[in-house]
Amino acid sequence: MRLTGTGHAGMRIDTPAGSILCDPWVNPAYFASWLPFPDNSQLDWDRLGDTDYLYVSHLHRDHFDPELLRRSVSKRATVLLPDFPSSELEDELRAVGFTSFLQTRNNEPTPVGGGLTVMIQALTSPTDGPLGDSSLWVEHDGVRVLNQNDARPADLGQFARLGHVHAHMLQFSGAIWYPMVYELPAAEKARLGRQKRARQIDRTIRYVDDLMASWVFPVAGPPCFLDDELWHLNDLDGDETNIFLDQQEFIDRYHSRGHANGQILLPGGVADVTQDHCRMRQPVDDVRTFLRHREDYLRAYRDRRRPVIAAEKASWRHPDIDVFEVVKRRFEPLLRSSVHLAVCMGTVLLELVRDCGEPREHILIDGPAGRVRRHDGGEFDHRFVIRRTLVEHLLHVGEIDWVNSLFLSCRFSATRRGPYNDAVFTFFKCLSEDRLRRAEAWYTGNEPDTEDIMLHDWVVQRRCPHQYADLGRFAVIDGNVLTCQMHGWQFDLDTGRCLTSGRHEIRARRLGLD
Ligand code: FES
Repeated sequence: MRLTGTGHAGMRIDTPAGSILCDPWVNPAYFASWLPFPDNSQLDWDRLGDTDYLYVSHLHRDHFDPELLRRSVSKRATVLLPDFPSSELEDELRAVGFTSFLQTRNNEPTPVGGGLTVMIQALTSPTDGPLGDSSLWVEHDGVRVLNQNDARPADLGQFARLGHVHAHMLQFSGAIWYPMVYELPAAEKARLGRQKRARQIDRTIRYVDDLMASWVFPVAGPPCFLDDELWHLNDLDGDETNIFLDQQEFIDRYHSRGHANGQILLPGGVADVTQDHCRMRQPVDDVRTFLRHREDYLRAYRDRRRPVIAAEKASWRHPDIDVFEVVKRRFEPLLRSSVHLAVCMGTVLLELVRDCGEPREHILIDGPAGRVRRHDGGEFDHRFVIRRTLVEHLLHVGEIDWVNSLFLSCRFSATRRGPYNDAVFTFFKCLSEDRLRRAEAWYTGNEPDTEDIMLHDWVVQRRCPHQYADLGRFAVIDGNVLTCQMHGWQFDLDTGRCLTSGRHEIRARRLGLD
């Protein structure tokens, strides 16, 4: 089986029974903030796009690039569809011209012909990507690969049960706005960044240890930031407080823990994987040297992409839009039809920064009251400071997912009162009746976890109250504080209180206190 790197989370999987192009992404995403690193725009996309199957794991824009799909991917390709509860992904792919779809069933191996078998695991909680993320498992002639991508399954047992995996591709680098956008003292922000970076590495290695594949490929990151305003987000020199570490840094850390099977798949790189071997062909003479000199590389990349980014930025202004009125008209019906999210999100202040130093505009989204009103003082729970033009653009295009556009762009700053509140970001990714209904159903339909396990001196519920990670694998206990390494949520085991979000209590008791 041949794996060809196409950049970021993208790859092409070639077998004698057919080829699968996965998550091809080239064009700037999230308000032109993210670009693939290294540059993959020079690859022969027409050749790569001449594929038998296409797999798009989810609709995040560093995985779903409609312009590239429209231009360069054969419409004869059959799309391998995850078993999502909505047709959003299929609808988007039909809109760019695909007509052949193979609907897979969750966690069920599907033979597709010639001895090629695929299995897609679909994750569908409100915090999985844009209400959905997925992983692809592929088998041909006894060779198995898992493209876990940036999905975070509770565990990898479904894949392990199908036999030894030879190549495991998974995310290791950051893909979020935390902690960079928060208005915090520099030292505190650095502490949180360091903690987040360490946790990402730890979580990735736990997944790797779970599956014990023959070869491990860190993929799906880091993105790079080529707009001058965001340049500071790049990790240029192994900064321990930066969440966007590169592949070599991960591999070094991974190998320092006693492993020796990490491989780097750069765009254009090739890995020929058999049951016994992994033969690499890299597109550069020396990967370590190449990545060490990334600052010079990024500067040249920035110069090449400057016109594209400038053109995108010029398209965002729509000053004729009455932002307050449109937000009110669109958000209030959603707030009023929400049972769970509106109450849990509290109050959110949008502080809109206008050009030319004009006064800022303050719009308060009051979840519990189901209202949007002008803010003229008074308290609020969350505050987002955003350039008005960005919100104009979101409203102009009717964006239903501000996480998959504004928030991932990192083009804002934020403050909050109290702990992290996932209801806020879930609401902002559910700005349509359909999505909101699905998210609400998920929250209200959740059954409590009833199984307990022993961890150190504690008996705790097996599944993390946040997203059901197996705490037998992902928990770290320090004193009476349990940290789930999946997303970093912490719980006070004495009281069961969640220290991260203020909700989602954990069931725990100290051993011997029955
Ligand atoms: S599953 Fe998210 S922190 Fe545990």
